[in-house]
Amino acid sequence: MSSIQQVPAPGPPEVRPLTSRFVFEPQQVMALLHKRIVGQDAALAAVEAQLKVLKADIGDRERPLGVNLFMGPTGVGKTEIVRLLAQAIHGRSDAMCRIDMQTLAQEHYAAALTGAPPGYVGSKEGVSLFDSELIEGTYSRPGIVLFDELEKASDEVLRSLLGILESGRLTLAGGSRTLDFRNSLIFMTSNIGARQANARRQRLSGGWRRLLGWFAEAESRLLERALHSRFEPEFLNRIDRILVFERIEGRWLDALLDIELSKLNQRLGPHRQLWVDESARAWLGRDHDPRFGARDLVRRVRVELEPAIADCLLAWADAGQMTATVQGQRLVVLPQG
Ligand SMILES: Nc1ncnc2c1ncn2[C@@H]1O[C@H](COP(=O)(O)OP(=O)(O)OP(=O)(O)O)[C@@H](O)[C@H]1O
Ligand SMILES: [Mg+2]
Repeated sequence: MSSIQQVPAPGPPEVRPLTSRFVFEPQQVMALLHKRIVGQDAALAAVEAQLKVLKADIGDRERPLGVNLFMGPTGVGKTEIVRLLAQAIHGRSDAMCRIDMQTLAQEHYAAALTGAPPGYVGSKEGVSLFDSELIEGTYSRPGIVLFDELEKASDEVLRSLLGILESGRLTLAGGSRTLDFRNSLIFMTSNIGARQANARRQRLSGGWRRLLGWFAEAESRLLERALHSRFEPEFLNRIDRILVFERIEGRWLDALLDIELSKLNQRLGPHRQLWVDESARAWLGRDHDPRFGARDLVRRVRVELEPAIADCLLAWADAGQMTATVQGQRLVVLPQG
């Protein structure tokens, strides 16, 4: 018998997933995002990285869980991603505290954010636009906060935000209450620079420069300049991730329409199904203008396709399979068989 012992070959340790206080699974959240968002792979990859850090629960405890700024033109999925995160994490797409900066645009509305100071005319002391339950989330789920149209916020509102990003806390006017953002995922959205970037693209899109990578680089400089012209460096410095969303080009229309159709089919229920033929697809995607992102298509589904479905159902109550098609310059939905 040999006295030489076999040393086991070194290998990776057995995989044993971490038990986290957070109950969401990054993979499941991302599956929903990938199913429902097209054309924004870089933004989705950054969201995924952030969800994993969150799940591992290794972030700084004295700050918000994450601070993101989504930049890009209108209708490209900035708000939609946050709604889907709320859906995946809390089960409801409106389970977030959303503050529309447009409504706070005027200086004196800052009071609505932090609660009016004592004696302030027109609003009650300590009453704020913030909903503390949605902000704080729970032990096992992060709260989700969305500051929409950030560039519209007044300087005073931006100053209150600075404190939130820095320490994760906001003391309401009067000093009686403090809101805690240390368990919040914060998202901010902005269209700043998008118009200029669009104009630039239109000027140069056929040019040779884009082949050299110069195109994207110059565009990101343009966005950076726009950001710095509106926000103080100390504000920008407190943002973890600035993500630039892509424009929705024509090649994404088919995938977008499929997403809208699957939502629509879900609403139609298990006994009805809608098909859309090529002519109807072309009709719904006609004259796509990337400046308006997905909004034109989404709007046409609502104001052109839905009424045609309604006409069909009102005439043929038991229509199960339906097809949308174009007949004589009109979108119509007909029952099959
Ligand atoms: N990338 C995308 N993938 C799938 N659907 C999208 C995408 N972008 C937009 N949509 C659809 O268009 C609608 C509007 O998009 P969203 O609200 O995210 O726009 P936004 O980028 O926040 O624009 P704005 O700056 O005008 O607020 C969404 O509800 C969604 O149905
Ligand atoms: Mg939006």
